Amino acid sequence: MVEIPDYLLERSREARARITGAAPASDSQSDSSETAVVAATESAPAAPVSAPPEIEKIEPPKPVAPWVIAAKERKKIPVWMAPVALFLPIWAFMIWGTLEAPTYDEEGPIAAGGAVYAQCSACHGAGGGGGVGYQLNDGEVIKTFPDVESHVAWVVNGSSAAGTPYGDPNREGGQRISQNQGVMPNFAALESYEILEVVLYERVTHGLQDAGELEAYVLWVESGAIPDWELGVSPQSIFANFLEFLEMNPEAKEAYEENLEEASG
Ligand code: HEC
Repeated sequence: MVEIPDYLLERSREARARITGAAPASDSQSDSSETAVVAATESAPAAPVSAPPEIEKIEPPKPVAPWVIAAKERKKIPVWMAPVALFLPIWAFMIWGTLEAPTYDEEGPIAAGGAVYAQCSACHGAGGGGGVGYQLNDGEVIKTFPDVESHVAWVVNGSSAAGTPYGDPNREGGQRISQNQGVMPNFAALESYEILEVVLYERVTHGLQDAGELEAYVLWVESGAIPDWELGVSPQSIFANFLEFLEMNPEAKEAYEENLEEASG
């Protein structure tokens, strides 16, 4: 037979006493086990038989409101959200800029230039924001090429060796210098009207030039009377071509002269 150790017996007696509310009955006749003596001296005189012994009160957990649980279980905002959130207003501003309705005829030569621009966007960015090539948007391209003719000549000829200055020598922020990270190819293989179309497109959408100022050039594209521009063409000879066209087209001449008057105040 397995003997149950005294201290275990004593514990179970105590436990029963706690549950029934009676002082451990066995205390007085308990054997010489030390724990029994201690337990007896502690509980017997203090608590009368009738009084239930103090049971440590365990506070039931406070009920948690469902919305608190929901808040705790919800996924936390990831750390990377902080910079994203900071960027949001700038981004909104940029989007807002692109949402502005185009000020040109959506069927006309300027819009057609948007299709030609597909050949430029790899280097300059779809929105003209820059990449391998310089940023064109926010008016940058107009600072480099204040006049249409030097802009056209640039696109026909592409860029020269790295280190060659180009564009307006008095450009705000300093004259442009070809970089060594990538040289722009020439586009002499394009039709002249395509070159003019993409130039008009860049000037209006990136350069933020008023489409009305370019009316005479729009008419030039529509006339179909642009000579072929070959590699090495100069802005001066392009301007000579333009003046010849104006002599043939009174509407374009008027538009051009009105524009000159407005520009001079
Ligand atoms: C292979 C890359 C590449 C392509 C494609 C390209 N460009 Fe460029 N573009 C450049 C680089 C690079 C420059 C800066 C000059 C340099 O560093 O040689 C530049 C400069 C320019 C500039 C002068 C911008 C300024 O303000 O300095 C204009 C305008 C321009 N490109 C128009 C065009 C047009 C229009 C097309 C398409 C018909 C085109 N580019 C296609 C690389 C390219």
